[in-house]
Amino acid sequence: MKVVRSRAEFFAARGGQSGTIGLVPTMGALHAGHVALLDSARSECDCVITTNFVNPTQFGPDEDLARYPRTLDADLEVCERAGVDLVWAPGVDDVYPSGGTHVRVEPGPLGDILEGTVRPGHFTGVLTVVAKFLNLVRPGRAYFGEKDYQQLALIRQMTEDLELGVAIVGVDTVREPDGLALSSRNVYLSPDERARALVLSRALGAGQAAAGEGAIGVITAATAVLASQPDISVDYLELRGADLGEIPVHGACRLLVAARVGATRLIDNVGVDL
Ligand code: PAF
Repeated sequence: MKVVRSRAEFFAARGGQSGTIGLVPTMGALHAGHVALLDSARSECDCVITTNFVNPTQFGPDEDLARYPRTLDADLEVCERAGVDLVWAPGVDDVYPSGGTHVRVEPGPLGDILEGTVRPGHFTGVLTVVAKFLNLVRPGRAYFGEKDYQQLALIRQMTEDLELGVAIVGVDTVREPDGLALSSRNVYLSPDERARALVLSRALGAGQAAAGEGAIGVITAATAVLASQPDISVDYLELRGADLGEIPVHGACRLLVAARVGATRLIDNVGVDL
C-alpha cells in the first residue's frame, strides 16, 4: 500500500495504477462502515484508492470541524488490512491550492430538504469536494455509505446531471449489535448519551415494522418511539420516496431521522416498503 500526502506525489502514484479504479472518499476516523466501502471496492475493482481529508468547506461555522476526530495512523492500518492500493491524505492546500473555489456545485432542490434545512451550505461543500476528487482520481466506480443517504442521492444526481462518467455505488449502513449506526461522530457520545442515541434506530425500526399500516402508520409508530426519549432534540423525522421525492402509495420509501444527543448531532435512515 502506498501512502501519499501532496498533490504531486498523488499524481505520480496515480499514474502507476491501471484497470478499474475504485475510489472511496473519506474524512478519516475510519470504522467498520468505511471497511464495508473498502471491501466492496476491493471485490469489484482492480485498484482501490481512498482519500482521507477532513473537508473544511462542508462544515458550518458552528459545527465540529476543529474537534472532528483525526486518526491517520489508525486509519492507515485499517486501509492496509482492507487491501487498499493507494491512500491519499492531502492537506487543505493540496485540495484547495488557490485557497478555495470560486465555482461550486449547486445541489439544487434535493439539497434544500432534510439536512439542507439544518446545515446550509453543507451539500455545496460536499458536492464540490467530491467533484474535485472524482476529477483528480478519475475512478470507474466510487463508493459511498447509505448512512448519509441524502449525500448519496445528491452525488448520484450530480454524476448523472453533469455526465461525470463514474458509477456511484451505495453500500449498506453498518450497525453496532444494539442498532446504533456506525459514525465517526459516535466517539463524542458519553455512555449515557450513547444509551439515549439508541432511540434513533429503535424509532426507525418501529417505523419499518409498521409498513403494512401505510405512510401515516409508519410516521406514527416512529414518532411514538422518539417521544419516549425526551432528552434528545429531534431536527426531523421524515418518510420520503426512495429517491427522496414524493411518498409512493406502494413501494420503496426511506425513513430518515436527525437529532442532537447532548452536543452531538446524529443522523440515521432505513428503507421502508409500503
Ligand atoms: O461522507 C463523507 O465522509 C464526506 O462527506 C465525503 C463524501 C468524504 C466528502 O468530504
